[in-house]
Amino acid sequence: MPDNIDNLLVETRRFAPDEAFTGQAVATPALAERAAADRLGFWADQARELVTWSKPFTRVLDWSNPPFAKWFDDGSLNVAYNCLDRHVEAGLGDRVAIHWEGEPSDTRTLTYAELTREVKRAANMLLDLGVTEGDRVVIYLPLIPEAVISMLAVARIGAIHSVVFGGFSAESIRARVDDAGAKVVITADGGWRKGAVSPLKPAVDEALDETLHGASTVDTVIVVKRGENPVDWHDGRDLWWHDAIARSGDDHVAQAFPAEHPLFILYTSGTTGKPKGILHTSGGYLTGAAYSHRNVFDLHADTDVYWSTADIGWITGHTYVVYGPLANGATQVIYEGTPDSPEPGRWWDIIEKYRVTLFYAAPTAIRGFMKAGRQIPASRDLSSLRLLGSVGEPINPEAWVWYRDVIGGGITPIVDTWWQTETGSIMISALPGITTLKPGAAQVPLPGVAIDVVDDHGEPVGRGEGGLLVITEPWPSMLRGIWGDPDRYRETYWEKFADKGYYFAGDGARKDDDGDIWLLGRVDDVMNVSGHRLSTAEIESALVSHPLVAEAAVVGAADETTGQAVVAFVILRTSQVESMSPDDAVAALRAHVGHEIGAIAKPKTVMIVQELPKTRSGKIMRRLLRDVAEGREVGDTTTLADTSVMTVISAAL
Ligand code: PRX
Repeated sequence: MPDNIDNLLVETRRFAPDEAFTGQAVATPALAERAAADRLGFWADQARELVTWSKPFTRVLDWSNPPFAKWFDDGSLNVAYNCLDRHVEAGLGDRVAIHWEGEPSDTRTLTYAELTREVKRAANMLLDLGVTEGDRVVIYLPLIPEAVISMLAVARIGAIHSVVFGGFSAESIRARVDDAGAKVVITADGGWRKGAVSPLKPAVDEALDETLHGASTVDTVIVVKRGENPVDWHDGRDLWWHDAIARSGDDHVAQAFPAEHPLFILYTSGTTGKPKGILHTSGGYLTGAAYSHRNVFDLHADTDVYWSTADIGWITGHTYVVYGPLANGATQVIYEGTPDSPEPGRWWDIIEKYRVTLFYAAPTAIRGFMKAGRQIPASRDLSSLRLLGSVGEPINPEAWVWYRDVIGGGITPIVDTWWQTETGSIMISALPGITTLKPGAAQVPLPGVAIDVVDDHGEPVGRGEGGLLVITEPWPSMLRGIWGDPDRYRETYWEKFADKGYYFAGDGARKDDDGDIWLLGRVDDVMNVSGHRLSTAEIESALVSHPLVAEAAVVGAADETTGQAVVAFVILRTSQVESMSPDDAVAALRAHVGHEIGAIAKPKTVMIVQELPKTRSGKIMRRLLRDVAEGREVGDTTTLADTSVMTVISAAL
């Protein structure tokens, strides 16, 4: 049970839907009625309505071999065709697909016709390089149009993309390249962040360095010119994107692939050190992405301007920047840089400039803006906004209300959307125009999604009680497995409630008196920093790989801005530290974690200790360390092998 289960404040504010909004809303109560009457029939309807099938499916769900699901599996489709060509064929070629804004204020606009042409050329480029159906392509790019073009080009030819977030280190890239057995890496000479070009190619070069790590599976590295900064060149391996694409024609007929053909792998943190390659496939994923994007964001594709601030390196960038919006023919904004570059009102300038109507961001950013003050957004015209979304972590009621008042002009609905890399698309969210909103609660499962909150034995908890969040029935956009590791897939998600056949999400939740769901955070050793999952084990193994460190324990401590912050407790090797000041040791360790995993994982605080609290079986009691990190009185220590350890740690700090 999560520690914070009792800490929940009672939140009584309610915001009923505005009549005018309801009058035009995409989602209607009929959606839930249809789903309740015939769940599989409902999904079949959605799949037929939202997706263009090259060969229509006749089977909806095959759950004969759980937990390995097949959806719509005798149908076939091309996912990129669904995001591109079909809109052009429907006469929407001139509609803007992407308003791209670079951090230094350069811009690019791509209509559906132009985006389709670019993707066809990129598809031909990949084919010329020998990439074929089922091959893996790693994408390590800034948020530039080529990122979207690459993903769709890979999908178009039936290859599998694995996007690696541009903030991850060489070590992280290499681990993902090796696990996926990638043939090609697409990167750039740099991208703009915080007013400067941040290089990307050196990390790829280091990741693929044979003398450091041995030979890799990669034979080609395609480099987009974006940063205009110098790069080392590896003849025979490296290719400039613009050179290669200049040789590629823009004729390409999309071939259909089976509904269960793999679409992408996206690595995410788990409770062990090794990242999990979450596998998503085509037909069910696209159905879930398009359905949820349309209904949760109330998308009116002909008039709305949608903006999700997520990076393509995360699942939100996959489902709600690339596949959902483009499948729905939406017009969207994509912004390369950080929210506060060159000045703190950059996001709000972009909303004003493009007249953004639907906006999707993370609580950590909202809290950051709250701190900076309401005068910054207040000096911009944000009146185009008509709906706001939140994702990645629980949004505290104060931030929710600020978001609605200051950004949403006190009138926009807010959709707090709960989901995961594994679920592929939004599972829990208010439906705008229907649901009476409660600040801080994700509230209700989407129609067609079966969710419960249960106790340790899988029995539903009563209203007003807390427990574990489970998904009780398979859903179309569910992960199909962990790349190359079916046993880990079964153990991680399905073992806990194997007798019931429930998917266990790893989150604690509470049902309120109305049965609405409030998320309470992770129950495992996975932290949530700025809406991104980081595993304690992964950071611990990075720390102990440094010669200074004998032992390390990492916890997530509550943090006002980032939700949780990484706090590390380390025992240093005495032989190594004599010549070094504690400050230098801490700086070296923070830099080392940045190098091993990426800047996002750098501990905010490193505490040097002599001992770590362990049970008699040797398990580190992170709960006690969390107490210290959060400045609380240390909890029950009776199960420690040495009960004096915590007194020593607390006293020393
Ligand atoms: O703990 C939940 C939290 O983020 C986890 C999923 O992380 P990830 O796979 O990186 O995907 C993030 C974007 C979908 C969940 O297990 N989480 C995500 N959204 C919410 C949330 N917690 C509370 N409320 C949310 N709206």
